[in-house]
Amino acid sequence: MKRMLLALGLLVLAAVARADPAPTPQNPIIIKFSHVVAIDTPKGRGAERFKQLVEERTAGRVRVEVYPNSTLYKDKEELEALQLGAVQMLAPSVSKFGPLGVKEYEVFDLPYIFPNKDVLHRVTEGPIGAQLFAKLESKGIHGLAYWDNGFKVMTANRPLRVPADFKGLKMRIQASKVLDAQFRALGANPQVMAFSDVYQALQTGVVDGTENTPSNVYTQKMNEVQKYLTLSDHGYIGYAVITNRAFWDKLPPDIRTILEQAMRDATRYANAISQQDNDDALAAMKATQKIEFIELTPTEKAAWRRALLPVQSEMESRVGKDLIDAIHKEAQTIGAE
Ligand code: LMR
Repeated sequence: MKRMLLALGLLVLAAVARADPAPTPQNPIIIKFSHVVAIDTPKGRGAERFKQLVEERTAGRVRVEVYPNSTLYKDKEELEALQLGAVQMLAPSVSKFGPLGVKEYEVFDLPYIFPNKDVLHRVTEGPIGAQLFAKLESKGIHGLAYWDNGFKVMTANRPLRVPADFKGLKMRIQASKVLDAQFRALGANPQVMAFSDVYQALQTGVVDGTENTPSNVYTQKMNEVQKYLTLSDHGYIGYAVITNRAFWDKLPPDIRTILEQAMRDATRYANAISQQDNDDALAAMKATQKIEFIELTPTEKAAWRRALLPVQSEMESRVGKDLIDAIHKEAQTIGAE
């Protein structure tokens, strides 16, 4: 019995000796947080707020290094880097999980699936959001929060008023089969491209147009190489803030608790500023008088809906009919549909 206890004691001692030393300001835990957008966007600001809160609340025992604007990795590479542990945190748009094998996230790309942000929040903050996060665990990814960006506009060098205006246009999309179907339904040719390449592709005519949120269009200067912007609100872009699961699981529990609270606070902040950021971007683009804004008439809006709503049933087999129905149910619950 004594010998057993001694052996056990030695095992414990060996485990303690092997464990990472407790983090200190001189020897902090480093979190590399990579993303693809500008700092002055909802996601960019959210990441900066998270960094500030974490560094304050851990008194420097954790350092968050934010790498914006694809300075470290582009869209596809950043997900691979997270899985390999080369970075610890990302906030990809929810449209970018399909290539990882988690097709359900593309439900967020369905045209007109969210009548407003209240419905969206019921989805992201309720059981659907949690179920979607659970699907990432087997990929070595742990979901931390959903951050808003906003509803999308369309841009091109030709006015886009009715679906027929899209005919033959090469439109840049994120890597999502739902977005591919959306543009095919409009008669356009969708082309998957990393976010960091879009400005140049628009400038050189590799693509004719694109869709994005106003804050992304403005901060990437896409408005300088596009003549028309249609206020279509046909779909949504938002983010899943994610971390490398092994990294997260290995954190000292007290540190993890601080990070979780900081993420809750940064999420509240990012979601509170997102609408204003997009409104400001629209106002700033309008003020340049270099891009013409197109507001759709009720008849034109109806024509867009007629062309795009069938994408919801067309994509049932990809993203899951139950999931689509569950989102419609959330909308009905609050009388938004
Ligand atoms: C895009 O790739 O168009 C955007 O979703 C990028 C982003 O992260 O907002």
